[in-house]
This record gives sequence, structure tokens and C-alpha cells, in this order.
Amino acid sequence: MRAVAHWLSGTAGPRSFPYSAVLDEFHRVGKHFVEKSFLALLDEARGKVASRTPADGDASTRLLTDFLDVALDKWDGRYDYRSYLALRLLRFSDGADDQSPAARAADGRRARDRLLVRLIADTLAFELAAAAHTTGLLPQHRPGPAVVTKRCRLGVRAAAPALARLGLNKAVGADDPATAAADLHAIAGDLASPEDPSLRLSMLPVHVTHDEYLFIRVLQGYECLFAGVADELRAVVTALAGDAPGAAADRLGYAGDLLRAAGPLFSLLATMQPESFRTFRQYTEGASAIQSRSYKLVESLCRTPDADRLDSVAYRAVPEVRAQVQDGQPTVDETYRSAVADGRLAGPDHALVARRMAAFAGTLSQWRRTHHRLAVRMLGARSGTGYTEGTPYLAAVSAAPVFTAVTTDPPAADRSGRHCA
Ligand code: HEM
Repeated sequence: MRAVAHWLSGTAGPRSFPYSAVLDEFHRVGKHFVEKSFLALLDEARGKVASRTPADGDASTRLLTDFLDVALDKWDGRYDYRSYLALRLLRFSDGADDQSPAARAADGRRARDRLLVRLIADTLAFELAAAAHTTGLLPQHRPGPAVVTKRCRLGVRAAAPALARLGLNKAVGADDPATAAADLHAIAGDLASPEDPSLRLSMLPVHVTHDEYLFIRVLQGYECLFAGVADELRAVVTALAGDAPGAAADRLGYAGDLLRAAGPLFSLLATMQPESFRTFRQYTEGASAIQSRSYKLVESLCRTPDADRLDSVAYRAVPEVRAQVQDGQPTVDETYRSAVADGRLAGPDHALVARRMAAFAGTLSQWRRTHHRLAVRMLGARSGTGYTEGTPYLAAVSAAPVFTAVTTDPPAADRSGRHCA
């Protein structure tokens, strides 16, 4: 409190904002329980940043503005999934903004791979630090040593595909899981470049339960992946609408690989202790992944949602994506149909694109079924934090077709000859 008051009373700029002191206070009690008087001070700090002249609108001003928006979401009454996960601080597109061509290309892929590795490595580093009693962060319901080992094993496995794409997989030894996790953490430290987001600021749990750390990082990891899949699907639509629609096959293959290879992230989250989840979720009401723009972008880029789905809470929770759909966002399903009908997509190219679409649909359907199973295990018959009836909603949406133009294959169907672009 004193550090913020001191910063407020002086002339120091955003660069010297006392982030560590604020994080310490939030971590001590959990975001839901931070004293109102402290939040009022942060609100004042936000006013001070906002009153700076446009010439001061540099990276440090933007960082502080975004951080305070995340820290003050409950105080403002606009707490939701995106603020819970601090998505703005992670600096990957969650589909809200226009994306630059560069973000869609190789640089975007590499940046997201780096971020994914860093998110997983950070989670495992926390597990190891807690097990070694070198951190007092989120002290409630620590897992036992067997669970920590399992988390290290699954986390290293979840990071492996992104590490391989970055050409770094050999740097993580096949030693015991804790050593491999420590290797991963060392690599992740080297991966962060100056323009990369500070992960430290993006961890603001609502409570002090140990497993909330894992929950937040896994959700952030999936958001990173969905943003990547949405990018690939946009490129698929562009390719299918152009003169060389066969190029869509590589992008579909890459999108499917991204999602398929992320499977161990769910296994990692499945190690969460259900009682821990039920403890901290009391304070996450109103923040649900039903508000995930990236996921709904993925879904709606595949095919236009049926009218009743577009009118339901599923899309009302993501008004920006709903508006894009209503504005006629082109989809893979319809551009594929047109390319075939026009005769632009024929012969072996047609067969390959159709196979890749079926394989992608199989992978997304598998993701939905795994998510549903995990939710049943963690939630039982309780309702969701997104105000649906909970798992019955997920069971219903799991069955929805991803595309209508091709039938859904089981995920393993396209193994032969498939490669990443
Ligand atoms: C403890 C683990 C989890 C539980 C219990 C759970 C539960 C739920 C529930 C009940 C819903 C329905 C909406 C609501 O009322 O909140 C939902 C939606 C959703 N969840 Fe999860 N979830 C879990 C983990 C995850 C993870 C790791 C992701 C990855 C990002 C995720 C992504 C989604 C998405 C995208 C939706 C929206 C689906 C749609 O509207 O079709 N969930 N989840």
C-alpha cells in the first residue's frame, strides 16, 4: 500500500510503478479479497496514467494501463474470462483486433510457440518451487510429490511439440520428470525476448489455492493455441477463395497438428485436485471460457453457426465474434463448397483438402469430448460459471458438426502423409 501511495505522490512515470508490491498484496490474499482501500489507490494510479499526454503513450504506459485494468476488473464490476486470464497482458491476438499480416505468418507461429513453452515452463517451475518449499505463493492444498512428478512429466510432454517446432527439443533431457522440467524452465528463460510479455504480471489468481496457478496457465496455453488455430483457418479461407485452393491443405494440417499435439495439456489439468477447483471457483463466477473469443472464432470460421446457437448465450457471450458472423464472415465450409463447385478445387488437391478438413473436424470434436469429460470430473452436476447448466450444455455442443461439407473422421484418420506447413 505504502509503495503505491509513494508512487502516486511523486512524479515518477509508469516505468517505476511498484509492480512487485502490488503483486505481493494480490498474491497474499487472492484477487477476490484485496482490500477496497488498496483497490481505490490503484484506481487513482490508473487515473494518473490516463492523464498522461499522448506523447507518453509508450510501451510502459500501455503495460501499466493493461495491468491495472486486469487488477481492477472486480472493483470495476467487469470481471470476466479475458480479465481473469490477463489476456491483454499476454499480447497474443485473441481475435478482437485486426491482425497484421506478419502476425499471421511464421513470426506469429514462432511467437506463440515461445509463449506456450514459457507458460508451461512457468507452471512447472511453480510446482517445483512449492515442492521444495522455496515459495510461499498460493499455499493452500499443496499437491503431494507423486502429483508434482506427474505434472512435470505431462507438462514437458505438452511443451514438446512447440519446442520441436522451435528446433529446441534436444535441449530437454529424457531424465527424470523434475530434471526435464528444470531444463524446460532454463530454455524458457532464454526464449523471452525484450518485447515478450512479462508472465509474472499475468498471474492474478482469485484465491490462494495452489492449483489455481495450473488452471490459469493451462487456460492461457489453450488461448494461445486457439489464437494460432484461428490464424491458420483464416489463411485456409483465403487460400480456398483464391486461385490455388490446394494450398489450404497445409494450413489445415498445421491447425490440426496444433490442436492434436496439445492433448497433454488436458491431461496436465486433469491432475488438478477437484476440491481445490471447487474452492477457488466460488470466486470465479462470471468468468467462463464461454467468453473465449478465440474458441468461438475457430468454431465460426469452420462454418457459420446455426441461428439458434448464434442467438444463444454461446455467442451472446462474445459479441464481437457474433457481429463478425452477422457481417458475413466467410467460412472454410462455404469457401470449400464454392471452390469445388467452381471447379477450382479438383482431383488430388480436392481429395487432400477434404481429408485434412475431416481430420481437423475429428481433432476438434475430440477436444470437445475430452473437455466435456474433464468438466464432468471436476464439476459433477454443478452449473457453469458462464451461466449455462454446465456439463449438459457441453454434451450438447460436443455433438455439433464442425463442417457440413465433409464428414468428420476420427482424429487418427489422416496420419499418413500429413505434415506441418
Ligand atoms: C476444470 C476444468 C474445466 C471445467 C470444469 C470446465 C467447464 C466448462 C463449462 C461448464 C462450460 C460451459 C459454459 C459455462 O457455463 O461456464 C465450459 C465452456 C467452455 N470451456 Fe471449459 N471447463 C474446464 C476447462 C477448460 C479448459 C482448460 C479450456 C481451454 C481453453 C476450456 C474451454 C472452454 C470453452 C472454449 C468453452 C465454451 C464452449 C462453447 O461455448 O461451446 N475449458 N467449460
